[in-house]
Amino acid sequence: MLKSGYSAESYQNGVVHVRIYDIIQKKRDNFSLDDDEIYYAVNGFTNGEIPDYQMSALLMAIYLNGMDSRELTVLTTAMTISGDSLDLSELGNLTADKHSTGGVGDKTTLIVAPVVASLGGKVAKMSGRGLGHTGGTIDKLEAIPGFKTTLSREDFIGQVKKTGIAVIGQSGQIAPADKKIYALRDVTATVDSIPLIASSIMSKKLASGSKNIVLDVKAGSGAFVKSLDEAKKLAGTMVEIGKASSRNIAAVLTNMDIPLGRAVGNALEVTEAARVLSGRGSTDLETVCRELSARLLCLCHGWTFEESSRHVETAIKSGAALEKFREWITAQGGDAAFIDDNTALGEAAVQYEYKSSKSGYITHMNAELIGKAATVLGAGREKSGDAIDPLAGIILERKTGDFCKNGETIAVLHTSNKERLENARHYMEQAIVIGPVKPADMPLIYAVIE
Ligand code: URA
Repeated sequence: MLKSGYSAESYQNGVVHVRIYDIIQKKRDNFSLDDDEIYYAVNGFTNGEIPDYQMSALLMAIYLNGMDSRELTVLTTAMTISGDSLDLSELGNLTADKHSTGGVGDKTTLIVAPVVASLGGKVAKMSGRGLGHTGGTIDKLEAIPGFKTTLSREDFIGQVKKTGIAVIGQSGQIAPADKKIYALRDVTATVDSIPLIASSIMSKKLASGSKNIVLDVKAGSGAFVKSLDEAKKLAGTMVEIGKASSRNIAAVLTNMDIPLGRAVGNALEVTEAARVLSGRGSTDLETVCRELSARLLCLCHGWTFEESSRHVETAIKSGAALEKFREWITAQGGDAAFIDDNTALGEAAVQYEYKSSKSGYITHMNAELIGKAATVLGAGREKSGDAIDPLAGIILERKTGDFCKNGETIAVLHTSNKERLENARHYMEQAIVIGPVKPADMPLIYAVIE
């Protein structure tokens, strides 16, 4: 092995020729990669010159050995500039974006976006689809009849100017390197890595152009990063990357040990979001959404957290946020009838009551397994490209800390295909632990990193 980790084959007449094989070997042996090696790997993979099997090996080496902060900055930049960047300057300084690291029952965008827009923020947002056991905003919005998740650039900007919100799917031209790398990570067990998550999220955020960004970094059984310490590291890393690119950015560390709210599954979650905006939602979901909205408004307007929180309270209580939600859904072609009628999105043909097999307190509810149960019911994809059943999912009648008697309903499983119930029931059995002692309440918001 020669200095810096290169093999002898790379030296020809004293000149180093960059080869992907050597880059993999260098990272495998825990050396730092040079800037041009990172650019070479990202560009080569994005344009198809580096095959999946070599990129997979490099991703696994990064997963196992990590990256220092210079490498991470270069990786994020290479991914950001791998495609187009959206110029949102004509929308002014109040452009606002919120991104979650992924969770179960996480419908916060559907609530935070109208709250923030009703208070002057300009939410020009690109969102993703479900990944693994976690849901995605675009799949949820597609449960609304007529809702368009693709808009031309002019229509996207025009809608934000007019209504304060537009949310569309990730365009293939924004951070295409992330799109390809993410798909590979999803099938090579390399998702839960701090440098890979941080570069994935931040490359999309930087290329999407918003000035003010709040990151919802989730920790717990339903998150990609399970431990709070690791989630804090991830949050700190992403905040640093955002600041280095002159963004106003904060990260909120939130609890993803149990699903957020009562609904898991696309149409069910959209209806639940409307309930929160009407002031009738689950307290845990509302608390997290209020916090994220207030933090984003602090960045946009320079308000204190107390001022922001008061404005958020008024926006929900007065109905202004709910009206903004209706305006947004309608502007994007969606039928907003579900806001007033919670059956308007339809109901799954099969609804099965999952009952407790003993009396006691729910001491643990593994959110990842609940997410998997919802996926097998049809709310998510087993493999990329699968169709989603928008009406499938789970309503949690009881959550961690609740008491239930033997035979009482813990959850209602919704699906269009009753053959899917057995698998889902199996996940539910593994997910839910019942014991004699009421567990201590867990915090919903762990920390804020500014
Ligand atoms: N969300 C993303 O966009 N990327 C990740 O790597 C994980 C969650």
